[in-house]
Amino acid sequence: MSATLLDGKQLAADMRADIARQVAQLQAEKGVRPGLGVILIGADPASTSYVTAKERACEEAGMYSQDVRVPATTTQEEALALVRQMNADPRVHGILVQLPLPKHIDEGAVIDAIAPEKDVDGFTPVNVGRMLIGGACFLPCTPHGIIQMLLKAGVETAGRHAVVVGRSNIVGKPVAHLLMRKAAGGNATVTVCHTATRDLAAYTRQADILVVAAGRPGTVTGAMVKPGAVVIDVGVNRIPDAGRPSGFRLAGDVEFDSVREVASLLTPVPGGVGPMTITMLLYNTLEAARRAGG
Ligand code: GUN
Repeated sequence: MSATLLDGKQLAADMRADIARQVAQLQAEKGVRPGLGVILIGADPASTSYVTAKERACEEAGMYSQDVRVPATTTQEEALALVRQMNADPRVHGILVQLPLPKHIDEGAVIDAIAPEKDVDGFTPVNVGRMLIGGACFLPCTPHGIIQMLLKAGVETAGRHAVVVGRSNIVGKPVAHLLMRKAAGGNATVTVCHTATRDLAAYTRQADILVVAAGRPGTVTGAMVKPGAVVIDVGVNRIPDAGRPSGFRLAGDVEFDSVREVASLLTPVPGGVGPMTITMLLYNTLEAARRAGG
């Protein structure tokens, strides 16, 4: 069997065109232009590239984009002040602080400072709490994008076994919750594996739906996948490649060639989950603008 590839780029393009239409409508009818504020501290190449892509997508959707890039030497107080400025800025409906932050800054304190009604990443304790117990919240973008891809592809999640590899706050924990919650794209029985899991393959081989967000290339090989499984690869790893102008190529967390032979559906890297993350960020920013009075 050779897996069908789940094209995140095409789905993202369709959804972004729809979001752009809604942005134009909101502006025409209510005079509100949705705005996203992005804070990047330091110059990590991967973070810089993500932030640039987010800002470009924002502008393409007709949204206002506020871009604040400051050096890695920025103090915690300065970082908090930047967040507070955006909290108070009526042009900014959504705030994104690119993670990870430099080590001397307390990430939790900075996230906590984001006004929950502008927390379009869905990272603040208020949003995470509301997501867990059910309530009006912003769903975190990568997990939400994954659920949208599964729904669009017609993948049945209810009653099936979903295995998540990774327990990060950004992907592993929230996607496990969305897969198990009582809602469309949920109702699965979920197992979460992580770095202390013994015999990872014994779990991954039981997965009808396998979400791999481990941050390590080659975490899952074809021999670790049940035939016919749906495999979602969340990894974005830069592999040195002297033959490319950039000096690297992107690879996911799963071994693409061997997994493709066993899975029924597989997300490629790049072009799978990545474009959907940015799309859900635009979706949340539009929603934040609507709630703010649009
Ligand atoms: N770093 C990696 N992924 C993300 C994300 O979705 N949002 C933010 N703010 N930082 C990230």
